[in-house]
Amino acid sequence: MLTQDQMKLAAAKKALEFIPENAVIGVGTGSTVNLFIDQLGTIKHLIQGAVSSSEATTERLKALGIPVLDLALVDELPVYVDGADEINHYLHMVKGGGGALTREKIVAAVAKEYICIADETKYVTVLGEFPLPVEVVPMARSYVARQLERLSTSGSRVHPELRMAAGDKVFLTDNGNYILDVHGLQIAEPVSLESKINQIAGVVTNGLFAQRRADVLLLGTQSGVEVKR
Ligand code: 5RP
Repeated sequence: MLTQDQMKLAAAKKALEFIPENAVIGVGTGSTVNLFIDQLGTIKHLIQGAVSSSEATTERLKALGIPVLDLALVDELPVYVDGADEINHYLHMVKGGGGALTREKIVAAVAKEYICIADETKYVTVLGEFPLPVEVVPMARSYVARQLERLSTSGSRVHPELRMAAGDKVFLTDNGNYILDVHGLQIAEPVSLESKINQIAGVVTNGLFAQRRADVLLLGTQSGVEVKR
């Protein structure tokens, strides 16, 4: 019986097969990606460098001697490797458990191919069991929360919760914003919900990655890594 971490590691190792030589690659954020970064360290001489999606990832890349480049100065990003909190059979995702959703979405938008690495617990039929992270400009938090509550249907009560950090402090993203974690959504139409939430004034972005879904899923399972497209 493999542990969740062993399945994550298997997916992270498999991702090395998708890294083109001499390229700059995009790197996501999270515990699965951390395992991938460690693997990337073993082939760092084969790549030019990486564009990072968070301060935490930047620190880890630099610690391994992998050059971190500014996205604005990079013409092409053939591949972006990142995890997910949930991923469905269409490879639509919920992301942002680590709070890095906005930069992740930007780097993913630039990349030609999105490689998602995840263990089998992340693979779901309907998105929304994991609370959907929404990054908001601090002054808009109450307004956005009220607007999000209006997504409730007769069968479900939608409940946005302000994300907290240790020591009773409000969690701050790398961009200095807040996160509302939205509970109670059953996301039947991820593509349209992604747009709808982004249209609320004060929302920076939300953790639905449906309009730019993953192209390849490397899913660590009990019986090996499954490649899904
Ligand atoms: C961070 C993310 C991560 O990809 C997501 O939270 C998955 O993380 P982990 O690999 O630790 O389960 O979106 O903002």
